[in-house]
Amino acid sequence: MSSFLSASLGRKVFMSVTGLFLILFLSLHLTLNLFLIFDDSGNLFNQAAHFMATNPMIKIMEPILALGFIIHIIWAAMLTWANMKARPQKYASGDQLLSWWAPSKNMFILGSMILAFLVLHIFNFWVKIKLTGDPLLNHPAGTNIDMENTYNLVSNLFINYPVYDLIYVIAGLLVGLHISHGFWSAFQTIGLNNINWMKRLKCLANIIGILFAIGFAAIPIYFLLKF
Ligand code: HEM
Repeated sequence: MSSFLSASLGRKVFMSVTGLFLILFLSLHLTLNLFLIFDDSGNLFNQAAHFMATNPMIKIMEPILALGFIIHIIWAAMLTWANMKARPQKYASGDQLLSWWAPSKNMFILGSMILAFLVLHIFNFWVKIKLTGDPLLNHPAGTNIDMENTYNLVSNLFINYPVYDLIYVIAGLLVGLHISHGFWSAFQTIGLNNINWMKRLKCLANIIGILFAIGFAAIPIYFLLKF
């Protein structure tokens, strides 16, 4: 029993640390992506994408990031599985059905949906930029630096495929919801569970979650409405 608890606690701490690390990545990712809507020439976003693709520090960070995602996901699956085995089987009651939207009880479901989005997302952009190439990337990027036109690839998806706008808006909301619970929960797991601090952290988590949801959703909505 105690080994189960300590193993489970160890996994939770690991999930919290990787989760906080992923929030840092997403903050940077969102900030750079917002360049998409602040300069319709695409120059600002292309410069930022070029910097990210060529900077040696970022190149070192990329596999660490991938590892962070993988550990976070595998640990989540293991923890959920251990919890399911440890708890007696419950029958669906009205309460359980009504609580489907409560993020605290559904971090795993939310995380799985985000993972499904992530697979699609990696095929939309990363695979084309890093592996296969795409004619859209070869359009002149509007600067004298020789770089790929990432803006053209991203804007083309959001302007011409409304179904992807919908998917990306939903993904933004899911990420916001996931973080609005995950952020304070991570600190609680690490040991910061003083009542006053918890109140502040929960408030901050809601603000961060809302900012992520609005920020990510704003990008496809902008392209859909403007072009
Ligand atoms: C409007 C929303 C988004 C846009 C426009 C966007 C854009 C992009 C682009 C262009 C890339 C390729 C970067 C490169 O390799 O040069 C990328 C990669 C990536 N995105 Fe997003 N993204 C969005 C939302 C998200 C969300 C919500 C997540 C997380 C759930 C996410 C996670 C990632 C990851 C893990 C990568 C691969 C690592 C990297 O290349 O930085 N993205 N995204």
